[in-house]
Amino acid sequence: MTKSPHLSRNNFVKGVVGILGTLMGVIVGLPAIGYLLSPALKIQTSESWIPLGPLDNYPVGEPTPFSFTRTKINGWEKATNSYGVYVLRKTETDTTVFSNICTHLSCRVSWHDDIVQYVCPCHDGHWNKDGAIVSGPQPRPLDTFENKVEDGNLFIHFVEG
Ligand code: FES
Repeated sequence: MTKSPHLSRNNFVKGVVGILGTLMGVIVGLPAIGYLLSPALKIQTSESWIPLGPLDNYPVGEPTPFSFTRTKINGWEKATNSYGVYVLRKTETDTTVFSNICTHLSCRVSWHDDIVQYVCPCHDGHWNKDGAIVSGPQPRPLDTFENKVEDGNLFIHFVEG
């Protein structure tokens, strides 16, 4: 008996069922894979206005510390970071908010009332009350945050990369 060059009905049905099964698998599977991978593929940046409380909490002329935490979700990882700032009310209405991160290698700086300077303990960087460099290896003044006052409350614009 010679074989027919044409597909048998059974083989045709098997082929169609196989193709349809594969297509259904792709249609169902691709979104699921995309859903599972999407957190890892997202680049997270966030920015927001952080409330620092009533402006009246900050005495004029005295650098005053404030700290806050932010929780960041990066892919499947969740991390909570703490941040610190110094609020300097130069006058009743003129306020500067300094980051406490050293502009050299990112150690934490602190205010020293006795010498009227911010000091970084890592390499002895010094800044004056206005954040300008006094001495040390740091390449620039202390970083500042944009700030605003709404209904008597102070806010800083915080960008987290
Ligand atoms: S890290 Fe602050 S002076 Fe080097």
